[in-house]
Amino acid sequence: MACAPARRTVARPATPRCENADVTGDHYFTAEPTTPARPREVEFSVAGRDYALSSAGGVFSADRLDPGTAVLLRKADLPGVDVAGPLLDIGCGFGPITCVLATVAPAATVWAVDVNERARALTAANAGRIGAADRVRAVAPDDLPADVTFAQIWSNPPIHIGKAELHDLLLRWLPRLTPDGVAWLVVARHLGGDSLHRWLVEQGWQVERHASQKGYRVLRVTR
Ligand SMILES: C[S@@+](CC[C@H](N)C(=O)[O-])C[C@H]1O[C@@H](n2cnc3c(N)ncnc32)[C@H](O)[C@@H]1O
Repeated sequence: MACAPARRTVARPATPRCENADVTGDHYFTAEPTTPARPREVEFSVAGRDYALSSAGGVFSADRLDPGTAVLLRKADLPGVDVAGPLLDIGCGFGPITCVLATVAPAATVWAVDVNERARALTAANAGRIGAADRVRAVAPDDLPADVTFAQIWSNPPIHIGKAELHDLLLRWLPRLTPDGVAWLVVARHLGGDSLHRWLVEQGWQVERHASQKGYRVLRVTR
């Protein structure tokens, strides 16, 4: 079973390996990866549930739950069962954040965007594995309807696309929070977590450093 009640209550990665160990020529944010897919499975636990998700070469952290994503899912306030969404996962990768959100908020629709088509396909497949295929929409950024707004936005954002591109990405999606919506971001301190915090404040957002663990900042962003 892909997702079942379990004894562990922490988000912890399975095997510690380089996030791009199988990416030969592609960046993880390549639109159409040429890296061999070499299907595999990533197992992890969040909030008392075990997940076993499909992964493949050419996507971010293909072999394990990324440590930053693990910190985010452990430290941020996961939506409750009553949260109807819609929710957004910016840069879904193979879908770990999306699948956790769809599991803990069983009434919510979760939109999962990524520029990487293999990532979108894996997220859609994993939504099926957890029984949420009808509530997860894995789409390219330009295919998300313009009139959808989000009660929550979650992201382990793609820092490596560059600072200007990252800022553009956040300026594109954060304004689509509902007035009382909340965004949860995780950024490694050594990759600019604190400067991103300051930049978001300069843009007029309320930003709280909700948690800091293992060098990762978990930022809570509201209007
Ligand atoms: C740090 S990874 C996080 C992946 C996944 N959420 C996880 O936690 O394992 C960031 C993701 O953002 C995607 N990405 C890069 N540029 C993007 C863009 N402009 N819009 C949406 N996603 C993008 C990458 O392909 C990658 O999958």
